[in-house]
Amino acid sequence: MFAHVRPAAARLRPLNLSLICFKPRFNSTGIGSQLGPRRAVVYNENGNPAEVARVVSSTDPVLLRDEDVLVRFLAAPINPSDLNVIEGKYPMRPEPIHEFGASSDGPGIFVGGHEGVAVVVKTGPLVDGPPTKPERRFRVGDWVLMRKPQTGTWTNWKVVPMRELRRIDRTKKTESKVTEAFAATLMVNSLTSLGLMTDISPIPGWHSYILQNGANSAVGQAIIQTAKQMGIKTINFVRDRPDYPQLKQYLMDLGADHVFTYDELLDRSFKKTFESLRTPPVKACRHAFNCIGGPTVAAMAALLDKNGHLISYGGMSKQPIILPVGLQIFKNLTAHGYWHSHTWEMIGQKEQDNRIARMVAWKELGRWKDPEHEELVLKGDDEEATGILREGLKRVQEGNIRKKVLIKWASPKDS
Ligand SMILES: NC(=O)c1ccc[n+]([C@@H]2O[C@H](COP(=O)([O-])OP(=O)(O)OC[C@H]3O[C@@H](n4cnc5c(N)ncnc54)[C@H](OP(=O)(O)O)[C@@H]3O)[C@@H](O)[C@H]2O)c1
Repeated sequence: MFAHVRPAAARLRPLNLSLICFKPRFNSTGIGSQLGPRRAVVYNENGNPAEVARVVSSTDPVLLRDEDVLVRFLAAPINPSDLNVIEGKYPMRPEPIHEFGASSDGPGIFVGGHEGVAVVVKTGPLVDGPPTKPERRFRVGDWVLMRKPQTGTWTNWKVVPMRELRRIDRTKKTESKVTEAFAATLMVNSLTSLGLMTDISPIPGWHSYILQNGANSAVGQAIIQTAKQMGIKTINFVRDRPDYPQLKQYLMDLGADHVFTYDELLDRSFKKTFESLRTPPVKACRHAFNCIGGPTVAAMAALLDKNGHLISYGGMSKQPIILPVGLQIFKNLTAHGYWHSHTWEMIGQKEQDNRIARMVAWKELGRWKDPEHEELVLKGDDEEATGILREGLKRVQEGNIRKKVLIKWASPKDS
């Protein structure tokens, strides 16, 4: 089980009594009727997500302190790591909360979800912030992301201290090309692609090649797009499937230079095919990204030039990596692991903001496509919503959706 921490209500923050909002008060300002009861995907203990996660509702009083912001979630993805967190197999854990019926002297419950995009609905009086610090100001209607990891984004609305929020500066709000799907998946998948390209061993630049497996994964699609923005060429590998020609076309439209199946990669003749792709002015092929594991990894690594880097960031097949010793001795191959959460903390807030601004700019310029996605709309009473949730989690676990699933909440009138 997770470590017990003090209930959120016990932490000291400035409290403006005139701003204590209870649900009836939300009702009286119209917010309660707009937003309805608070709802969240919670679990009491680790286990199979499709069995332990459930939807709960609460009409308990809610406090809005001076520096708090009330946000409504627009969309939050189900990432593979979210499932690992619920299973208790991820090295990062959420803090338990003592809401949604969990007693204040018990172990608490956990709300699922690490990233997502929300819109500001109401602000405390100090949220406007000092004029010298515009980044600390939030206005109703702003789109925001969570700064803290594992804060529980699978919820319809909640109150968040403003220091834990980061605004997405959409240039022209009404015409912005920043979509919910883009913003909801920005923190993990899109920014992982940028981190992979820059933080371990920078890629030599224009006309270099990179290799990757799992190229149709959300991160894989982001790698293709980031590489294109940076003038780097990609050779992409995916599992064969009945609709492979369509998938290949989709990845090419995204900006992939070449797409092959794992069967082609593992064929002895592929080395020749690979060499034929490397026509001038291609400079180097020293980076391979792996999110799958198993035999495709050694096959990719064998294609790398001398002094290459194999960078693993996932292991979807749950198979180990076996690398021929000769690659390390004679080609000086280095194998790395990349964990975005760790690197993200290391680069600091200024660089974090720069990277987010860079990606948002690509999106605003129409150079970035949303990941393929579908919406999982949680609606009905808690029992019905739990049924919808568990069916969705099961499909994600089975891997037969092949799109990013975004949790959304039906409005109270549709619920
Ligand atoms: N290290 C980090 O910081 C970091 C950050 C973000 C993500 N990740 C990891 O990156 C991986 C991809 O994440 P995502 O959100 O992009 O995933 P995703 O969109 O759900 O895509 C999953 C990918 O895995 C493939 N796959 C699933 N099961 C497989 C199997 N048994 N054998 C071969 N391929 C299989 C899928 O291929 P098919 O279409 O053929 O099923 C698809 O390409 C995950 O392991 C995730 O935890 C790591």
